[in-house]
Amino acid sequence: MTLPVVQEAAVTSEPRRLDDLQKLVALCKRRGFVFPSAEIYGGFSNTFDYGPLGVLLKNNVRDAWVRANVQRRDDVDLIDAAIITAPQVWRASGHVDHFVDSLVQCLGECKRRYRGDELSTPRCPECGGELSEPRPFNGMFRTHVGPTEEESSLAYLRPETAQGQFVNFKNVAAALRRKLPFGIAQVGKSFRNEITPGNFIFRTREFEQMEIEFFVTPGTDDEWFERWLEARERWFLDLGLRREHLRRYEVPDDERAHYSKRTVDLQYRYPFGKEWEELEGIANRGDYDLAQHEAASGESLSLFDEATRQHVRPFVVEPAAGLTRAALVFLIDAYEEQLLDPVKRDVRTVLHLHPALAPYKAAIFPLSKKPELLAVSRQIYEGLRRRWMVTHDVASGIGKAYRRQDEIGTPFCITVDFDTLEDQAVTIRDRDSMEQVRIPIGELEAWFADRLDF
Ligand code: GAP
Repeated sequence: MTLPVVQEAAVTSEPRRLDDLQKLVALCKRRGFVFPSAEIYGGFSNTFDYGPLGVLLKNNVRDAWVRANVQRRDDVDLIDAAIITAPQVWRASGHVDHFVDSLVQCLGECKRRYRGDELSTPRCPECGGELSEPRPFNGMFRTHVGPTEEESSLAYLRPETAQGQFVNFKNVAAALRRKLPFGIAQVGKSFRNEITPGNFIFRTREFEQMEIEFFVTPGTDDEWFERWLEARERWFLDLGLRREHLRRYEVPDDERAHYSKRTVDLQYRYPFGKEWEELEGIANRGDYDLAQHEAASGESLSLFDEATRQHVRPFVVEPAAGLTRAALVFLIDAYEEQLLDPVKRDVRTVLHLHPALAPYKAAIFPLSKKPELLAVSRQIYEGLRRRWMVTHDVASGIGKAYRRQDEIGTPFCITVDFDTLEDQAVTIRDRDSMEQVRIPIGELEAWFADRLDF
């Protein structure tokens, strides 16, 4: 039995999920996950900058996704395509004509703008004013390439990463000698001039996606669709998302994107809006995109298929995830306020992030700032950080230091105390259970490898 470095009170409250998004927004700013963009100028609406911890979290989500979908598969390669590419791509893909929402504006006092498909009342829900006729609004950001702003220099910021995979389909197949079925994955920024952005980083105009275009022999697409749906749901659950907060939603015909034969959304139960909303979409795009690009470019986008012994234009199953939206969901699901001491109203805020996603895997502190303790904690820190992102905190008392790490989701805290100088061991405190164990310094790396290598 290890004697705790500091005695912590037990949790007295029932587990309770985040009920107010603003609490998370405040934590994200206070602790350096997400800041309102250009805040010194009063901000820029619905635009956010990722701080040091937000970047670590985002990178961890991305790495977990690449590990599961590229590194641990035999049939998926990763690319990184241009954000501003040839405008013909967006004409052929249908985005110029079909990536359109209906925009309705309040003609009364508030002048708010709405997406026509989301309005259920004939008058403005905000001020009761009259509403304009709906008009089509294309969601792609436009820009001009080169020094002149004319029609011929018009270009678009990509609204999805997916087209990069379609236009590079032949290149990847040839360079990597790929045969069907195989996939191309990409992680990167996408841009949409959303009419109704909001709910923090849930819907923003600049965001990141993680998308796979999986090319299959026509006729095998339904089977691959099921496999990918299963795999993508499993990924979220393996990273700790609670089962009861995730569900499948069969998207009806009139809600599906122009390219889709079938879409199932993985929906998450958010603490805002309609509650159940999209987290990721899995679509069967058929051969829509390759056929469109083939017709527009004049290049054949068929491959010789070993299974059918003929040239085929593949069908595509697309698991399309939002990286920034997934980061939000992991934060929401991980957030908990625990009541420790009801008399003192002592509340511990903790992010139960999966260790693979936690910005820091461990925090190391000396019990006091005595040079002999500092030297040892520094040495442990130097050793562990060669392999993992860890932090060294010498500023606060141990109790406070634990709480600071709980709030940012650090799974383990290592304390160097005076006994360490005698027994060459340290105390490791677990974020979720608050239990403490004593481990010899020489065994630390193996102990962490068991728990942190994914
Ligand atoms: N290539 C298909 C595609 O882009 P989508 O359902 O429009 O499909 C896929 O987008 C995922 O990208 C969504 O499930 C969501 O996670 C994320 N996403 C889309 N628009 C977003 C926005 N404005 N802000 C944040 N994430 C967004």
